[in-house]
Amino acid sequence: MKLLFTLLLSCTIYLQAAVTPVPPTRFRELPELSAIPFDRLLTIDNYVGVSLGDLKALSILIQNSNAKNCLELGTFLGTGTTALFYGAGVNLTCVDHWRGNQFDPFMQSTAPQYDFYEICSANINQYNHENRIALVEADTIQASHMYPDHSFDLIFIDADHTYEGVLADIKAWYSKVKPGGIICGHDCEGRPYNFRKYDFSDAALKGKDWDDRLRIHPGVIRAVHEFFKGSASLFAEQSLIVNGTREHSSIWYYRIPE
Ligand SMILES: C[S@@+](CC[C@H](N)C(=O)[O-])C[C@H]1O[C@@H](n2cnc3c(N)ncnc32)[C@H](O)[C@@H]1O
Repeated sequence: MKLLFTLLLSCTIYLQAAVTPVPPTRFRELPELSAIPFDRLLTIDNYVGVSLGDLKALSILIQNSNAKNCLELGTFLGTGTTALFYGAGVNLTCVDHWRGNQFDPFMQSTAPQYDFYEICSANINQYNHENRIALVEADTIQASHMYPDHSFDLIFIDADHTYEGVLADIKAWYSKVKPGGIICGHDCEGRPYNFRKYDFSDAALKGKDWDDRLRIHPGVIRAVHEFFKGSASLFAEQSLIVNGTREHSSIWYYRIPE
């Protein structure tokens, strides 16, 4: 009994020391997020995966598509986009294997020490009072077989950021969006021709999800451009204003024809 108590206590101390509250954010400036208890949500090494501009962009897409049932591929700790979806009043299915991105050094170095699923689930329990969020622990491609076509009004892709990974997710999930709905995703900073000298070849992009020098996700840029033949829209090319301040977003989107 004593041993069990000591073990439990040390686990609690370890967890408290390991994860810290989400750093102060301006997210509450968005009405959708005003009720989210960010000071009680936990993160690792101050990780916050999205910007205020990204959340504003997502909120515009949800409103403009009159979305009710949404799906997010890649939720991680549930401190960013997931909170926005909840605050916007929609139902959300979150698909993630909670093992972290294979080519993201931060996630790979922290994965052995932390249970990403447990942290995410604890965070979401802090605001999912109306039970509108469901967590599905699965690989994104395997999970796509669980849903019939036209299941969702809006699908947001933010999982594997390699060229192959993004392309596979778009191909697997495109038909799951209702006609007139929105397929969108994170981390598309431009179009291949904006980075003329950049090597977007298969060989150069293999196993790459981020380019530190240019601060871009080249695999996302190529996959989105290629699949939609240049017709996806990019918030990176638009002006976003939140409370009088210009904000930036790397969210891309495409409306499925009726
Ligand atoms: C960039 S994070 C998502 C961030 C989140 N949207 C936010 O706002 O904080 C990417 C997530 O995708 C998940 N992921 C990557 N590849 C995946 C795959 N093939 N299947 C399922 N989940 C995957 C990782 O486990 C990670 O939690």
